[in-house]
Amino acid sequence: MKTPAFFRILIASGAIAAYAAAEGAADAAAPETVALPQPSRDSVTLGAALEKRATNREFSADELTAQELSDLLWAANGFNRPDIKKRTAPTAVNRQEIDLYVLRRDGAWLWDADGNRLVRTSGEDLRGLTGRSGAGAANFALEAPVALLYVVDYERQKMQSRPQDAFKYACVDCGFIGQNVYLHCAAAGLNTVFLGSLKPEQISKALGLPETSVPLFAQTVGRAPRQ
Ligand SMILES: Cc1cc2nc3c(=O)[nH]c(=O)nc-3n(C[C@H](O)[C@H](O)[C@H](O)COP(=O)(O)O)c2cc1C
Repeated sequence: MKTPAFFRILIASGAIAAYAAAEGAADAAAPETVALPQPSRDSVTLGAALEKRATNREFSADELTAQELSDLLWAANGFNRPDIKKRTAPTAVNRQEIDLYVLRRDGAWLWDADGNRLVRTSGEDLRGLTGRSGAGAANFALEAPVALLYVVDYERQKMQSRPQDAFKYACVDCGFIGQNVYLHCAAAGLNTVFLGSLKPEQISKALGLPETSVPLFAQTVGRAPRQ
């Protein structure tokens, strides 16, 4: 697959640039952004979080607060060593090729980890494109306020020497982020489920992703239903 040189330069400067290219130059000048508060740290022990780590598929419709979202995203894949630009989740050859999108009722947002802010990439509610769908299947992804979306940017991953490893490494790298989210949710009292079920083509289209960026997994997050 050949990507035009113009687009390659945009992609190399990050997913926000790719988004801007997809949306058009006028929107690129002023994408809608939401600043998140400084992330706080979990205070429970790792052992306690491991004891509680579990998949839960029942959610309340309550929105997460900005602080809860910031804490969640930092735990997922934030910079824990900002001086050397390294993160809470490892990546093969330190490519840091997984972008996190936050799908909510109010649209889809790309998380800019550097600036700890959300950049709107769609005004549509795309949560229903993650999780189970079909006759008789209630989709818990529509109950929960947040679906995290894990998108690999193969252009940034650049596995030219071993292209056969690109998909394998991308999946593993998503898995580390997913486990960070599981442990953070256990520590923060949130429910979560990691999802292989999603509609990647429809999501790509809605987000205007280039061919070199592919949604691989999603992870629903929210509070437990009220008793
Ligand atoms: C790669 C992967 C894909 C998964 N995909 C789905 C999914 O599409 N839908 C779902 O309800 N659960 C999904 N799960 C959650 C598993 O069903 C769950 O982790 C498993 O039942 C074990 O439960 P536990 O996480 O509570 O230990 C997935 C988990 C993994 C690791």
